Amino acid sequence: MSSSVKKTILLTPGPVTTTESVKWSQVVPDICPREAEFGEIMEYISTELTQLVADPDHYTAILFGGSGTAAVESMISSVPDKDAVIIVSNGAYGKRMCEIAEVYGLDYLEFKSPPDEEVNLLDLERYIQSSNRTISHLAVVHHETTTGLLNKVKDIGNLCKKYQIEMIVDAMSSFAAIPIQMKEMNISYLAASSNKNLQGMAGVSFVIAERSKLETLKDKKPRSYYLNLYAQYKYFAEHRQMRFTPPVQTLYALKQAIEELKQEGIEKRYERYITSWKTLISGLARLGLTYIVPEEHHSKIITSIHEPACAGYDFKSMHDFFYSKGIMIYPGKLEQLNTFRIANIGDITYKEIELFLELLESYLSSIECG
Ligand SMILES: Cc1ncc(COP(=O)(O)O)c(C=O)c1O
Repeated sequence: MSSSVKKTILLTPGPVTTTESVKWSQVVPDICPREAEFGEIMEYISTELTQLVADPDHYTAILFGGSGTAAVESMISSVPDKDAVIIVSNGAYGKRMCEIAEVYGLDYLEFKSPPDEEVNLLDLERYIQSSNRTISHLAVVHHETTTGLLNKVKDIGNLCKKYQIEMIVDAMSSFAAIPIQMKEMNISYLAASSNKNLQGMAGVSFVIAERSKLETLKDKKPRSYYLNLYAQYKYFAEHRQMRFTPPVQTLYALKQAIEELKQEGIEKRYERYITSWKTLISGLARLGLTYIVPEEHHSKIITSIHEPACAGYDFKSMHDFFYSKGIMIYPGKLEQLNTFRIANIGDITYKEIELFLELLESYLSSIECG
């Protein structure tokens, strides 16, 4: 390993702060990704990612070069056929799945639910029952990164089982921190990416699914060329390569990130995140700031905080203040409420959150707020 890289603190929901070793793992001799040696790396990554949520003997991870949206778009465009899809929409990422379904001309039904409350399962069941369409799929975001709301995917999965509906889950910001068991939760297809709780670099996203389910997509007319899930799955199974040029160095970083995750363990990683979150919440309370999702439905990964009600406050100046100190924060993404967001994931601990809180206090007093 060479000289150290400056550590910036990303309190954003991904890309996140990475370890020095993940950063340096990208500096490798050039390699043609069609070489067998690189195929082995991709196979390792695919198997290890699968193992985090399912049995690799029956499930597989299909890798794409692309941000998280690529994997979500691949599922939505490749899986549903002619029958209707219900999309649970309680934040920006549920809405995004509706936008994707719209682009592909899918028959979809948007089940709207408030962004700061748990999904009402009775309402969802009534919605399924009262629809005059045949519903083949239901798509839901596990952790709505817009707010920090954790959707009860297991309960929604049970409902899907009752009505023989296949569930598609965007687990982008829960994967590798919040435990997921695809079979137990009745998840048929799941999407995530390299640069959030996996603590890798941006540029790889993936779909995990049961091989037997993927085989059923074989004879469907593809709606997309690059994001064709079946074609990407089949090509990898036959050649141990992605169909198109993979982000080579990002994959080296992902391999290293997976090794570091295995050393830490998902549960311990989530515990570390929760410790940071508790530090954040008690600090916010001390400063008189409030957040929107109640603790019992909160992921403890990202928090949507009400902006301070002071004349001198504006998000950009607060952002620039933190940026000058090597800390990056995130604006809110809710239409109705003025919020900003703080994520506590990546290679950080409660110590960095304490530093953030100290600086937040001095920023607020500099604008005579509080
Ligand atoms: C739940 C969820 N879905 C999808 C995405 C989209 O990922 P990307 O920006 O990598 O395309 C994000 C990104 O934050 C997310 O949090």
